[in-house]
Amino acid sequence: MNEPVRQPRAMDRGDLEACATLFAQVFSTPPWSEPWTHESALARLEHFHASPGGVGLLMPGEGGAVAGFLLGHLEPYLEGKLFYLREMCVASHRQGQGIGSRLYRGLEKQLVAHDVRAVYLATDRGIPAAAFYQGLGFRCSEGMAFYAKGLMG
Ligand SMILES: CC(C)(COP(=O)(O)OP(=O)(O)OC[C@H]1O[C@@H](n2cnc3c(N)ncnc32)[C@H](O)[C@@H]1OP(=O)(O)O)[C@@H](O)C(=O)NCCC(=O)NCCS
Repeated sequence: MNEPVRQPRAMDRGDLEACATLFAQVFSTPPWSEPWTHESALARLEHFHASPGGVGLLMPGEGGAVAGFLLGHLEPYLEGKLFYLREMCVASHRQGQGIGSRLYRGLEKQLVAHDVRAVYLATDRGIPAAAFYQGLGFRCSEGMAFYAKGLMG
């Protein structure tokens, strides 16, 4: 039986340890299979959480665990603001139960109140989560390109 789906709440600094545990678990498994440790995940999440304009929302799970979270930051633009969604994940055993959608809708409500005009994110093309973002109204930009250059080796 599925666990009850609750309402998202603001992520506090004290939640970062539990979020890092979840993040390391989710992104260490396919399709990501990235070698995250608790420490490296915590460092990344702490960084975004402490950034100017940082906004995080989490879905409480059972027994003090975190079922899912999102984290990003507001940034000033010409008119109003933009929101850069930096990380989002839902516990593997809770995916497909509407938690990600609830988290994202909760975020949008907050962003509208902060005069945010658009939300953007960068991710791999063709990942399974693309269908999730498209279902929420995101479109892969035809006009914009994401450039990166590796510096090691
Ligand atoms: C992507 C993710 C955040 C979505 O959260 P979720 O709670 O599983 O999504 P929901 O249950 O709210 O699903 C909403 C819709 O998206 C679709 N969807 C969600 N994940 C999907 C996936 N992996 N593949 C295809 N469709 C997916 C659902 O089928 C659902 O469609 P419906 O409304 O037509 O039924 C979550 O699956 C996750 O953490 N995945 C692994 C980490 C990841 O890829 N994060 C994003 C990196 S940028």
